[in-house]
Amino acid sequence: MKTSQLTGADPAQVVREGLVSRPKQLPPWLFYDAEGSRLFEQITALPEYYLTRAESEILTSHGTQVVRAALEGAHNPPLFSLMELGAGTATKSQILLQAAITQMRPWGGRCCFVPVDISETVLDAARVRLHKALPALIVRPIVGDHAAACAALGTLPPPRLVLFLGSYMGNFDDAANIALFGAVRLALDPGDTFVVGADRQNPVDEILAAYDDKAGVTAAFNRNILVRINRELGGQFDPSSFAHVARWNAAESRVEMHLASIRQQRVRIRALGITVAFARGETIHTESSVKYTDDRVEAILSAA
Ligand code: AVI
Repeated sequence: MKTSQLTGADPAQVVREGLVSRPKQLPPWLFYDAEGSRLFEQITALPEYYLTRAESEILTSHGTQVVRAALEGAHNPPLFSLMELGAGTATKSQILLQAAITQMRPWGGRCCFVPVDISETVLDAARVRLHKALPALIVRPIVGDHAAACAALGTLPPPRLVLFLGSYMGNFDDAANIALFGAVRLALDPGDTFVVGADRQNPVDEILAAYDDKAGVTAAFNRNILVRINRELGGQFDPSSFAHVARWNAAESRVEMHLASIRQQRVRIRALGITVAFARGETIHTESSVKYTDDRVEAILSAA
């Protein structure tokens, strides 16, 4: 199964490969159709999902320093570019954008924000909100993957600050992160800045609660991948016959999300011309979220 973050993949081919493989698996980027993106925004506000709150607090308390460091090498630049990979509604970027606008005001510098996401819907929402909140900001969204982002990065006016927040890196293996960070590094110049957010090895019960909330939003987010396959590929999944499972994998230091078939069943996927057989209890592995030590993050960054 493809784990690269850099090249776009064809959903039909990925679903076919994932459902005929043993164990069955689907890549987490399939979550993010319009409904999946909406559910993910809900997840970020859940009491159990500590990641977004923790990161927002860090950016609120250290955002001024981050922007100062990013602007440091350039002398009163007329423009400053901030790109966020997997921006979503860009709520966290807004904290840094506000700090950048404030710091550049004395010399009349302007800030250009490039949110990158595969969902056009969330980028539209971000653009409208940012236009109202920060009218001086130039916003140039890119609907696309990380390859599109890296291609555009070199054309942005320096200095540049690239954000990869939300522990998105945790949804990929180390090799894929090294490849992505290496591509970002090649597109940047000395004096540009890359900021990465990574979740730590918190207590396992807190991690599991974050990925299996009481309100069932994460379960709906997980099952939405089946709804998407039904809509886009003529799948005949009954999502209610799959249970949401969040499981701690200590050996890999990651929480895994699975969809477990609650009965023996066969599911036809018309556009793929296949019928997939499930044993009772058999799972589709839909996501891994790695929880890091500082050393592991350092090793990934050094390798890139
Ligand atoms: C986007 N990504 C970093 C989230 C995570 O925590 O792995 C997606 C998510 N999955 C379940 N809850 C949130």
